[in-house]
Amino acid sequence: MIDVFSKFKSGVYVVTTVIDGLKYGWTVSWVSKVSFKPPLVMISIGKNKKDHEKFEEAEVFAVNVMGENGIEVARHFGLSSGENVNNFKEIDFIELKTGSPVLKECVGAIDCKIVKTVDAGDHVVFIGEVLDSVSKDGESILFSNEIFP
Ligand SMILES: Cc1cc2nc3c(=O)[nH]c(=O)nc-3n(C[C@H](O)[C@H](O)[C@H](O)COP(=O)(O)O)c2cc1C
Repeated sequence: MIDVFSKFKSGVYVVTTVIDGLKYGWTVSWVSKVSFKPPLVMISIGKNKKDHEKFEEAEVFAVNVMGENGIEVARHFGLSSGENVNNFKEIDFIELKTGSPVLKECVGAIDCKIVKTVDAGDHVVFIGEVLDSVSKDGESILFSNEIFP
């Protein structure tokens, strides 16, 4: 791993999607805005994730921006595989335009349709066009090894 990567500050997000009526979620930190017109964002999902091939079937996703109240939820979606379990049991959410879950604990979320997928080394980059968004009170948190050992 390139040492200087650890100096990049990043937020903590839960990316969610719905495929054939089933909901999926992954905690990610590799998220970025890429364009204002049209509004585009990108997320990068590792190919070693058990569900990553599932994500390649997705047509939509939501990026949930997590704050202090969302740390437990970010651990839930980040530290154990969602394979063969209902990861959304006991998780409160609403849906915006795409049907991707927007988590109750997020401080904001953007709802996207996937417009481009880029194979990038050991990750796949998904670029989404923002169709809807919600912003709530509260600050986003930054990823740290103290919070996510
Ligand atoms: C704070 C945090 C940030 C993460 N960032 C990413 C990321 O940007 N991309 C990614 O593919 N996985 C990321 N992960 C790991 C996935 O969330 C994790 O591998 C997945 O939820 C567990 O599924 P798996 O067992 O299939 O790997 C992150 C995890 C945490 C806790």
